[in-house]
Amino acid sequence: MKLFLDTANIDEIRHGVEMGVVAGVTTNPSLAASEGVCDLLAYGDAVRQITEIVQGPVSAEVFSNDAASMIDQGRIIATWAGNVVVKLPSTADGFKAMAVLSREGIPINQTLCFSANQALLGVQAGAAYVSPFVGRIDDTGTDGMSLVRDIVDIFSKQNIAVKVLAASLRHPLHVVQAAKIGAHYATIPYKVLLQMMKHPLTDAGVVKFEQDLIAVTGNR
Ligand code: G3P
Repeated sequence: MKLFLDTANIDEIRHGVEMGVVAGVTTNPSLAASEGVCDLLAYGDAVRQITEIVQGPVSAEVFSNDAASMIDQGRIIATWAGNVVVKLPSTADGFKAMAVLSREGIPINQTLCFSANQALLGVQAGAAYVSPFVGRIDDTGTDGMSLVRDIVDIFSKQNIAVKVLAASLRHPLHVVQAAKIGAHYATIPYKVLLQMMKHPLTDAGVVKFEQDLIAVTGNR
């Protein structure tokens, strides 16, 4: 399972890539807005900047909800860089846009997926990735990870090549669960990336090694 960062923050992306642990990026209008990006033009500048830092897939979402506008925007987004993936929602208009854009060879990330049926429809419409939103299902009091499990199981039994991208992950346990289930990708906030690498025994071990060296050599 490869890790993507779910952010539009350039510093976070640069840090993740420098550490060698980030293979791609996902963004959406909410994440863009939190970086002060509010229209497609500015979003294009931000996404192009991200694609210069990250070699892997960078998902950029359309800013509209009707099929015709999503198709227009998807075509524009696809020109921003060679590694851009167009994110479209799991709606009737979204599936229509997926069908048109995927036929043109544009890779699609089916977003806002909350059911196995929606995932199956994305397959028919030509999505390359499907993004089940785990945390938002957890928020309703239902186990979001079971949707990832269902989709992975169905795709495996049906020999479906669409990649499962576990999204709306909120903590490190989500990441481990997604990996055990067999998700191909997990997209995580920068905060979760930092939490994943943190362990008190690692910190204590680093301090102890340094202290032991100082005790022997007498200097730092
Ligand atoms: O990848 C989807 C993500 O941005 C949504 O996360 O925490 O807003 O549900 P969240």
